[in-house]
This record gives sequence, structure tokens and C-alpha cells, in this order.
Amino acid sequence: MNAMIEDLKITKQTALDQIAQCPDLKELEKIRVQYLGKKGRLTAVLRQMGKLESEERKVLGQQGNLVREAIETALAESLQRLKLHETEQKLNGEWLDVTLPGKKPKAGKKHPISLVLDDIIEIFMGMGFSVADGREIETVRYNFDALNAPSDHPSRDEQDTFYINDDVLLRTQTSTVQVRVMEKNRPPLRIISPGRVYRADDVDATHSPLFHQLEGLVVDKGIAFADLKGTLEIFARRLYGENTGVRFRPHYFPFTEPSAEMDIVCFSCDGNGCRVCKQEGYIELLGAGMVHPNVLKFCGIDPDEYTGFAFGMGLDRAALKRYNINDMRLLFENDSRFLTQFS
Ligand code: PHE
Repeated sequence: MNAMIEDLKITKQTALDQIAQCPDLKELEKIRVQYLGKKGRLTAVLRQMGKLESEERKVLGQQGNLVREAIETALAESLQRLKLHETEQKLNGEWLDVTLPGKKPKAGKKHPISLVLDDIIEIFMGMGFSVADGREIETVRYNFDALNAPSDHPSRDEQDTFYINDDVLLRTQTSTVQVRVMEKNRPPLRIISPGRVYRADDVDATHSPLFHQLEGLVVDKGIAFADLKGTLEIFARRLYGENTGVRFRPHYFPFTEPSAEMDIVCFSCDGNGCRVCKQEGYIELLGAGMVHPNVLKFCGIDPDEYTGFAFGMGLDRAALKRYNINDMRLLFENDSRFLTQFS
């Protein structure tokens, strides 16, 4: 009996010592099992009680319970202490300096072509135009036939046009949209349509096999060449400044008659002649003309009742002019050091 009391004392002392020195929660759990578990030390001591007289068993039982309580209390205290310690360590490890400067993500900028296009769209919207969508993969019918292109027109040649097969091609001009719009809608019509076009050109400072055009189309009763001139003059002045001078030169397009090209006075030399305008004093801005009666007929619009004008311009050249960029390739290389310079 005394030996067993002694055993209990030692068990309690070693348990409390171990708990006091315990470094972490995992270790503490091990200690708990080691002493209080089914196969633990305290259980082992108490199991021997069976051999004792009932009086002695009572005393030893009481002692045993006291030891268990003492160990349990020590475990609970230690658990709290270790938990607190762990939280503190976490907080210290994950310390964050909110006064540090933030990392700024690189913000994208609009491409110069988009910037010019935004302005052009705004100008035409202000004159009552809406924006129509087209498709880049077209058929010979929309790109040439419906646009009154003679069957031997050089632009039909494979050297100028990317053919997918005999009938399907990458559109060479946004004028295809004229036909698509007139087929589906009845006059009055007033649309612009920007988009990509393709021609089998080699890449150099002024050419690219992919470039951008903007098409315009107006069809209504009584539309005359004077409307074309007035509209496009206003457009040029809004885009390049109120004092911009313009001139119209006769030209030829299969799908317009009469046709013209519109130039603006060179912004670099004010018309005196310089390298930018190749001593011309003028810079070409767009092609235009009165919609050919054959095109109207093709789309089921009576040319005796309705007339219209159309125009088309290169957006890449417009962007180059606007930002004084001297090489078209820069527009397509998408070097962010270049692209972030414009706004
Ligand atoms: N499609 C012509 C071109 O690519 C431009 C144009 C459009 C001319 C509309 C007249 C009318 O050159």
C-alpha cells in the first residue's frame, strides 16, 4: 500500500514536470495519453488496487483521483498557455507593414488606332450615323461582284487578294459592309463600319498585309454630291482642326460614280510642300463617291428613287498622321514601351 502511494506521488511529480516543460501542443497530447490514457501510467497504478483491502482501496482511490485532477488541471493550463504562444508566433511571423508602398499593376492603354477610331466614331455619331458590323472572311460576291468590280479588275488577282478558296477570301476593303447593310435594311441609311482588311502586300514602313479601314454609307431620297462634300469636310475639320483645308480630286472606284479622293492641307507645312506631303502640300485622307446605281440595284434598292454616297479611309494612316509616327510596323509590333506613349 505505501509503495503504491509512493508510486502515485512519483507519477504525479514526473507528470507535472513534463507538462511544465512541454514545448508544444502535439507534445502535450502525448503526455496526456502517456499518463491518463487507457494504457497510461496512472491507470496502471490504480489497476493494482484490486489486491488491496477495501479500506486501503478507498484511500488509494481518493489519492488516485487527486493525482488525476492535478494532472488534468496542469494539462488544461498548459494547453491554454501553448495555444496563446502559438497564436503569438503566428502573428509575429505573418507581420505586415501596411505603410509599405503598394505594387502598382501595369495598366493597359488604348492602341493609337483605337484612340483615333474613338474620335472618328464620336464625330459621325454626332451627325446621326450608327456603327455597323461586318465580317473579315467574305465571299467574292460581297468583296467584288456586288461592288460592281469588272471581272478583270486587277484587285481580284491572287497577287493582291488572300483567297481561302475560289469563292472565299479575306476582305480587301470594308466596302463589303455597304452591300450587307443595304441587303438587310431599307433607306434611309446612315452607317459607318470600321474593321480589319487584308491585302497581299509585303511589310514595310507604309504597308502591312493587315490594316484597318472605316467605311461610311448614306442612302436616302435626294442625296447629292454636295451632301458628300459637306459631310466629309465637317468630318475633316472636326478630326484635324477647324481651319483644316480640304480638296476633292476626281478618282475611280468601281462601286461609286462619280468618285473622288479627298485630301487635307498638309499639317506639317500648311500647304507649302515638305517631305511629309512629298512637296504636294496636301495629304490624301479618303476615297468617296456616289453609290453606283448597279450596287443599289444589286441590293434591291431602286436607283431612281434613292441615291447615296459612300466613303472609305485607312485608319492606320490616320493614326500615323495624328501621332506623327513614321513607321506603320510600330502599330503592329505591340511593344508596350511604344503603345503606352499615347492618350
Ligand atoms: N474601298 C475603297 C478602298 O479600299 C475606298 C472607298 C470606299 C471608296 C467607299 C469609295 C467609297 O480604297
